[in-house]
Amino acid sequence: MTTSPASGPNTDAQEEIARLRVEIEQHNYRYYVEDAPVISDAEYDALMRRLMALEQAHPELVTPESPTQRVGATPLAAFGAVTHAVPMLSLGNAFDEDEVRAFDKRVTDTLRAAGLLGPAAQADYFCELKLDGLAISLRYENGKLVQAATRGDGQTGEDVTANIRTIRSIPLQLKAGAPEVLEVRGEVLMNRRDFERLNEAQAARGDKVFVNPRNAAAGSLRQLDPRITAQRPLRFFAYGWGEVHGLAGRQSGLFDEPAPGKREVSTLPREAHSAMLAWLGELGLPINTQHNHKAKGADGLLAFYERVAGLRPVLPYDIDGVVYKVDSLPAQKVLGFVARAPRFALAHKYPAEEATTTLLDIEVQVGRTGAITPVARLQPVFVGGVTVTNATLHNEDEVRRKDVRIGDTVIVRRAGDVIPEVVGPVLAKRPADAREFRMVTACPVCGSAIERPEGEAVARCTGGLFCAAQRKQSLLHAAGRKALDIEGLGEKLVDQLVDRDRVKSLADIYSLTAEELAGYERMGAKSAENLVRAIDKARTPTLGRLLFALGIRHVGESTARDVARHFGSLEAIMNATEAQLLEVTDVGPAVAASIHRFFAEQHNRDIVHALEEQGVRPSAEAGARTGALTGKTFVLTGTLPNWTRDDATRHILAAGGKVSGSVSKKTAYVVAGEEAGSKLAKAQELGVPVLDEDGLKQLLGVDE
Ligand code: IVH
Repeated sequence: MTTSPASGPNTDAQEEIARLRVEIEQHNYRYYVEDAPVISDAEYDALMRRLMALEQAHPELVTPESPTQRVGATPLAAFGAVTHAVPMLSLGNAFDEDEVRAFDKRVTDTLRAAGLLGPAAQADYFCELKLDGLAISLRYENGKLVQAATRGDGQTGEDVTANIRTIRSIPLQLKAGAPEVLEVRGEVLMNRRDFERLNEAQAARGDKVFVNPRNAAAGSLRQLDPRITAQRPLRFFAYGWGEVHGLAGRQSGLFDEPAPGKREVSTLPREAHSAMLAWLGELGLPINTQHNHKAKGADGLLAFYERVAGLRPVLPYDIDGVVYKVDSLPAQKVLGFVARAPRFALAHKYPAEEATTTLLDIEVQVGRTGAITPVARLQPVFVGGVTVTNATLHNEDEVRRKDVRIGDTVIVRRAGDVIPEVVGPVLAKRPADAREFRMVTACPVCGSAIERPEGEAVARCTGGLFCAAQRKQSLLHAAGRKALDIEGLGEKLVDQLVDRDRVKSLADIYSLTAEELAGYERMGAKSAENLVRAIDKARTPTLGRLLFALGIRHVGESTARDVARHFGSLEAIMNATEAQLLEVTDVGPAVAASIHRFFAEQHNRDIVHALEEQGVRPSAEAGARTGALTGKTFVLTGTLPNWTRDDATRHILAAGGKVSGSVSKKTAYVVAGEEAGSKLAKAQELGVPVLDEDGLKQLLGVDE
């Protein structure tokens, strides 16, 4: 910031410019670091426009630190080389608990031997996320950003200053209290949502799409034209520092003792990594305060690892592990370095979510609603903690868009419990004889025509329940846990029942006997009896479950429950008009039309009647239409002290509430018990109120 002279023709403009710069950078911080903007984009633009106008009128007042100067206008010919004043090191890796315990033991033994840790004391660590982006070093001199460099080989990196300046969360000017020289080390990354949007825009323009956020971040930073980088949604988090000296006009290295006769520099935190990071935060640098965490001993580290594993799917960005750092800086100094990694820090990695393998073939699968899904058959590959042999390719357009061909080396991704998918081909490894996928024109199972309505991405087999594949999938859906919950009616048995034509529709399930079932492959007398008992129990499902079991398109578990509650009987639902269906809360036109169309088909009505003949009598759906919790959606997570999940669900439904599996802004309450994981985190992130068991009981007015 420029200091304003006491008087002069420009004083007013100068003051306003200074004020606007601070204000704009504060909004950048709120928007890009805290994800909590307090003004609209239009208001922000107005501030920027005002600043630009003032600077245009007073060009002598423009400084490189002005937010108007983030984007340089001239592309570079090439990146220059930067020698790092302090090398950028890498980290030792651990992949399992034993390796973490061994690390903690080495640290503890060394620190005890050095007298820095008592005989029974545990080491204090600072735990961070291992952000999956690119390491960057930012050099500030007297508080101004003067240079930014990539890690390169650790000794020498590339000068990416012009590009780094376009990242709004990186201050061009530090707040008061910055030393003469401060090198900040951290990670540049792209949020997953931003990455997806960027790829959509790239694809729409016919430009290259990126395979993952890391790749997109790297590609964006290595643009010779900073105007392109400026349009890419890059973010930054600081996690360390390199060269630091000259605080308050004095020369002092971070670890150096103050020169004899000189006082200790009081504002430079020399004690702990955590204090140092907090100080960087105070200077205006983005720090991951939300997830950074202090821990004690190996157990503390492992608990952090587990907790973050649960958060990983809901984090806005990719991480590939967590990093443990001995918090005490004097202790770090004693531990020192081995080769190119510090002995005081460790990266504990999660199973990679992406791997490459060979695409052996693309086959098609017929789903419950006839949807034809291309499925990649893969050379088995270990990814996301399991061996993957198949991965979905979603639909024909997706295969074309990704340009994957049979024989390609492909990137396979499996994140959390999400089904594995093929991300894209590694074009450099494409063999000359790679084959393009051709969509089938007839159903591979029943031979019926395949239809792909205009404007829809999904091709469907027109065979309906004539198609054995659709019949099998429908039966498996109906037997599922959220529908009729018939334990023991699995894929192998359904295959046999349909292939032998013993079961043509859901109703036929109810006529199966233990004697005949015992004759099927992989069925003993005992399991046959158990199955018949489970089938018998499924004669009295709740109305909502039965409706869900019918597998009507667009009718999920909770819609089925709403419709069941509203109408009270299957007869009433079957005879409802679209307008009447639309009266149900949360039922929109697509759902109403789909239910109406389903029951307009005689063969579907026949199935309902056949079910009645088999003695299927749904019970009224629990939950009065106007209970205390009507319209409120709950999400349950973790283990409650007294109630099971079913108990809690039953009570909530009985009071008119709904239970959903995922937390969104519309969730009224999250009920959290022991070991609640990502859903609790999501609730906190979205500001959804969280209840414990007692809180829920209070709300329900029950005392059990
Ligand atoms: S500390 C001397 N902390 O991981 C240790 N690194 O293999 C310097 N990374 O290249 C690294 N998140 O890009 C550290 N919280 C974090 C990190 C982190 C990601 C990356 C960094 C580095 C690599 C180390």
